[in-house]
Amino acid sequence: MIPVVKTIDEVRKYVNEWRRAGKTVGLVPTMGYLHEGHRSLIVRAVAENDCVVVSDFVNPTQFGPNEDFESYPRDINADASLCEGAGASIIFNPEPEEMYDNALTTVSVAEITSGLCGKTRPTHFAGVCTVVSKLFNIVKPDRAYFGQKDAQQLCVIRKMVKDLNFDIEIVGCPIVREEDGLAKSSRNTYLSEEERQAALCLSRSLKKGRKMIEDGEHSTEKVIAAIRAEIESEKLAKIDYVEIVALDTLKPVSEINVPVLAAIAVYIGKTRLIDNFIIE
Ligand code: PAJ
Repeated sequence: MIPVVKTIDEVRKYVNEWRRAGKTVGLVPTMGYLHEGHRSLIVRAVAENDCVVVSDFVNPTQFGPNEDFESYPRDINADASLCEGAGASIIFNPEPEEMYDNALTTVSVAEITSGLCGKTRPTHFAGVCTVVSKLFNIVKPDRAYFGQKDAQQLCVIRKMVKDLNFDIEIVGCPIVREEDGLAKSSRNTYLSEEERQAALCLSRSLKKGRKMIEDGEHSTEKVIAAIRAEIESEKLAKIDYVEIVALDTLKPVSEINVPVLAAIAVYIGKTRLIDNFIIE
């Protein structure tokens, strides 16, 4: 069975041994409750590196006070089987005390963290950047793998890596979806059967928006209106945001003629889901 490592020292022992043998190392940071989306990152990491660390840590510092840290789903045994099946070398599954031993230091990225998800989750990205920086320093990987599913997170991590000169290649991976279009997410387990059906309005609305742009629509306002209308036709859905932003700055654009990110966050009942697409 794949080793489930609980301490930073032990991770370092594994990695040091691999390095002595001249091996390359990939890192896939996760919060566990792994699904096909996570698996696609692990499979890619295994294909591109000799050894792969999957971190499996529900990071308390990226949850707001009224968010779902306590109820976030956890299943380390199922995660271990998935990681083993995908070919990972070890799982790093620390307790919060191991990661945050009276820590007073945080890492935060300005500007690009204030819009989109940063608006409703003002402390979220500092929590993400801090834990990912720590993981980078613990594992010192050659490459680290992140999903396009969390488009703003990927953009923020790339900026952090550039600004802080982490010598790590960041690899972005495409969104993995259910057959009916719903983006895979650990939070999908919160949905009742009725909500699961309602949640299809996210991918459906984005498909419409994308088609409009592909058919030549340049007005952000019109595309956003169409996406909103599609979501609003679903009575269990409540929009957090629908935005079209420049891919590099994450600032809203009025005309769609640069590479853009169309990103949405929608409450389905109490569950907040996100989805997006990119036009290069
Ligand atoms: P988590 O939500 O567990 O996601 C871990 C990684 O899997 C992220 O890079 C995310 O974008 C990717 N992922 C999730 N669903 C995906 C899907 N349907 N298709 C492709 N990739 C998908 O994101 C986090 O954890 C945390 O913020 C973390 C970076 C681990 C820091 O705590």
